[in-house]
Amino acid sequence: MNKNQQLQNLNKKWTEECQCELKKTATQAVPGDGDAEADIVFIGEAPGRSEDIQGRPFVGAAGKFLDEMLALINLKREEVYITNIVKYRPPNNRDPLPEEKAACREWLLEELKIISPKLIIFLGRHAMNNFFPALSISQAHGKLLIKPFKNISTKYFFPLYHPAAALYDGSMREVLKEDFKKIPKVLKEIEKRGA
Ligand code: URA
Repeated sequence: MNKNQQLQNLNKKWTEECQCELKKTATQAVPGDGDAEADIVFIGEAPGRSEDIQGRPFVGAAGKFLDEMLALINLKREEVYITNIVKYRPPNNRDPLPEEKAACREWLLEELKIISPKLIIFLGRHAMNNFFPALSISQAHGKLLIKPFKNISTKYFFPLYHPAAALYDGSMREVLKEDFKKIPKVLKEIEKRGA
């Protein structure tokens, strides 16, 4: 079975089995999307309104900005994999609760296991703190983190500000773009260091 088929099966299984309370208020599950063979996985926070309607991650305003930044480094969204820590939209886009993150965690870990990316990029503090609870995004953004985890194929992580937070904040927007432009160098560094 190829990785795409494995992901389809995984998403079907978790859409049925996920115990997340947000299922009760969301329109539908929003699983990850993109190239199952990608070197890079982007992890965001939770679906917003457009994502809840369309069933795909990052298709609203933050997603358009993400597409723009991918273009800065000559990548298309079809060439990376994009997902969220929580697969259902929280009501009124509130922050996901710890129990909602916990309910969707195994789904995310299994996605990561199938894709086995070289690099995991966190979009915002919620995604980063899901794996590195003690770090602050204002200090960690744009820096390569190297830490092995028992269930994750890569030990390389790169935190960024969330595109939605940066969208209407001129200075954060520039910082996010500059951090984004570091991604090709980060990939080269990873190749040099080895898996
Ligand atoms: N913000 C997120 O964190 N994820 C999405 O899918 C859309 C907006």
